[in-house]
Amino acid sequence: MKKIIITLDGFSSCGKSTLARQLAKELNYVFIDSGAMYRAITLYFIREHIDCNNTEQVKRALSEVNLSFEYNPLTGQSDMYLNDENVELLIREMVVSERVSEVAALKEVREFGVAQQQQMGIKKGIVMDGRDIGTTVFPDAELKIFVTADPAVRVERRFKELYEKNPAITIEEVKRNLEMRDYVDSNREFSPLRQAADAVVLDNSDLTKAEQLQIALQWAREKMLG
Ligand code: CDP
Ligand code: CDP
Repeated sequence: MKKIIITLDGFSSCGKSTLARQLAKELNYVFIDSGAMYRAITLYFIREHIDCNNTEQVKRALSEVNLSFEYNPLTGQSDMYLNDENVELLIREMVVSERVSEVAALKEVREFGVAQQQQMGIKKGIVMDGRDIGTTVFPDAELKIFVTADPAVRVERRFKELYEKNPAITIEEVKRNLEMRDYVDSNREFSPLRQAADAVVLDNSDLTKAEQLQIALQWAREKMLG
């Protein structure tokens, strides 16, 4: 079977990373969470008090950022590293979620992220999830999946996830953040979130993780045989 590139794009919290990770495990492919890269860059910008309107500061900050994914034997998953520091947990916090869409909209940041992501796909055999993976990063990908889920379901899913780590979080806060990011991500100038014309849509509002995997695996195998 030939090695392919699989992209998953869509709004926040519809289960893209979950499905991408499942697919990569089944197919023995590399899984890349492109959102983690933008989150790590954002963490660096927050720590260094980078002004997003100051292009020189943005460029300097990016020249100081080194991103890598490293396998964590305790979880069996890859963790995001920022300049050799494991930031996997820190980048999921609300302070980063509040700023990430603003940072990810910058032209310099997009060029930085897209170039590294394209490099990761050179040998194919990769599943990458994000917002612009099927449109900008890998426009020739063999399988493009646009994942959707009912907005209320998405808020509930993300709330459950965050509440386990921080019981002070409210459902209103999560809802506001998702709505804000979905709006900014869809309306930015560079690489806005769009469904690629040749993407297949997977609405998983009423699907279990096992069910969504079976559907996507079927699509992937058809492309791998073709
Ligand atoms: O929290 P969630 O899983 O929805 O988001 P994420 O995949 O971790 O991505 C965080 C943010 O990074 C998004 O809201 C976008 O602003 C940005 N992002 C992007 O611009 N392009 C991508 N390919 C992936 C993420
Ligand atoms: O990557 P994205 O932001 O699209 O979503 P995710 O982080 O993969 O999934 C958000 C939450 O939804 C996670 O807690 C998943 O376990 C959960 N989920 C689910 O309950 N049912 C699905 N069919 C898919 C995801």
